[in-house]
Amino acid sequence: MRETIVFVFIRIILLFVFLTDSFFTMDIRKLFSKSDYLYQKPLFLANPHGWIPHIPFAFFLVETMKPRVILELGTYSGNSYFAFCQAVKQLQLSSRCVAVDTWKGDIHVGNYANDVYERVKEINKKEFSGFSELMQMRFDVASHNFSDGSIDILHIDGTHTYDAVKNDFTNWLPKVRRGGVILLHDTMVRKKDFGVWKFLKEIKEQYRILEFPFSEGLALVCKDAHSNPELIEFIKLAKKDPTLIRFFEALGNNILLEREKSLFRDEVLKMRKKTAKLNRQLLENKKEIKKLKRKI
Ligand SMILES: C[S@@+](CC[C@H](N)C(=O)[O-])C[C@H]1O[C@@H](n2cnc3c(N)ncnc32)[C@H](O)[C@@H]1O
Repeated sequence: MRETIVFVFIRIILLFVFLTDSFFTMDIRKLFSKSDYLYQKPLFLANPHGWIPHIPFAFFLVETMKPRVILELGTYSGNSYFAFCQAVKQLQLSSRCVAVDTWKGDIHVGNYANDVYERVKEINKKEFSGFSELMQMRFDVASHNFSDGSIDILHIDGTHTYDAVKNDFTNWLPKVRRGGVILLHDTMVRKKDFGVWKFLKEIKEQYRILEFPFSEGLALVCKDAHSNPELIEFIKLAKKDPTLIRFFEALGNNILLEREKSLFRDEVLKMRKKTAKLNRQLLENKKEIKKLKRKI
């Protein structure tokens, strides 16, 4: 009798585990059945590569939230910004995008040349001018142009010291609308005086946060409890099962590997051309030696 009860009890537990698991899988399927933009290839990649592995999530976020305004603090060569813009354009959303940067560099990325801004300006004009604006100025100066509650997705990726990131977050948070989200980049970097990780730890209890702890790290912070319901569902699922985060990591790494492969292939092509040129020169030189040998 006792054995039968134990047996039945185990069967009930197993059934419960099975049902929970299949409900969970169904939820993920339901979530992704509405979203396939995350598999797109980004079209405007450049150095540095730190943000590249997070692009599939940027695509997913834009497709899920269909934001009215996306604002980025810290654009540099545009890997993250152009991912947002590409999604807006290809998904035919009516979002407005704004990138703020001095395009001069800072203590972490160093000072870079003006051709970085020239390239970004060129792409922006050619591909996204209908809805995207570049503001070449300091973040604090730009902030006066935005009213409270006007931004849906705020991406903070400027200077990464604790003080700078806290300052950017505090200054710009009121500009984020009810239900909006903030992305913080470089949450995994512990070198030098990088302090995004420390700031994130500090606000962990206060906000609903999902971290993507790979590459240089990205955190999604919900301003309040009114975020997009599908996004909240996604966060809950990702917290329950890290497979979802690993999935985004694998998709992101794929983009990075493709990019590195294509750079390497270009390099190999260049080397091949150079080798062929050297072979031709060598041949000419050998002929010349022969000619000269005959003369002496
Ligand atoms: C880490 S990079 C941005 C990387 C970029 N999001 C990507 O996808 O590769 C940081 C950028 O922030 C800019 N920056 C830092 N502090 C700034 C400030 N206070 N005002 C304006 N630009 C700033 C720098 O010029 C630099 O281009």
